[in-house]
Amino acid sequence: MKCNKLVDAGRRQFLRGGMAATAGAVATTVMTPEQARAQALARVDYPASRLANIADLVVNEPMDIAYPDADSPGVLLKLGQAVEGGVGPDGDIVAFSVLCPHKGWLMSYSAEDQTLNCPGHHSRFDCESGGQQIWGHATSNLAQFLLSVDENGDIHANGIDELIYGRLSNVL
Ligand code: FES
Repeated sequence: MKCNKLVDAGRRQFLRGGMAATAGAVATTVMTPEQARAQALARVDYPASRLANIADLVVNEPMDIAYPDADSPGVLLKLGQAVEGGVGPDGDIVAFSVLCPHKGWLMSYSAEDQTLNCPGHHSRFDCESGGQQIWGHATSNLAQFLLSVDENGDIHANGIDELIYGRLSNVL
């Protein structure tokens, strides 16, 4: 009887230790100081900007835009199927910076595989997956503009999920 109690106490102690270790692991895998700094810099008050109307878009044809200011070129896309970060009735409208996160070259859209491609050192980014890098020298994913659509079908940009290349703050 006494032995069983000791076994139970030991098991409880083991479980408490396991939970504490798990909590510690969660706390220590949050982000590096550089990531925290980049994220803090990206958290600014963004302007709301009308980019276009849904009626202006054609599936798989890029529309040149700029956000949050004229010096930050981007592309507005209707991809034809619901995607990550997509808005509108079909969940397929997305927008990205077209400045390559590696060294800022201007990228172009490939309708063939719905990617943005850099002529500088050939990094490639998947527009169907939130601008995820799929090849190349860049060390971060593409900055995606956060969109909303109002009752008139107007598409608005309201923020950005990554730091735009060359900026210490997305809003200057
Ligand atoms: Fe785009 Fe280097 S500038 S990969």
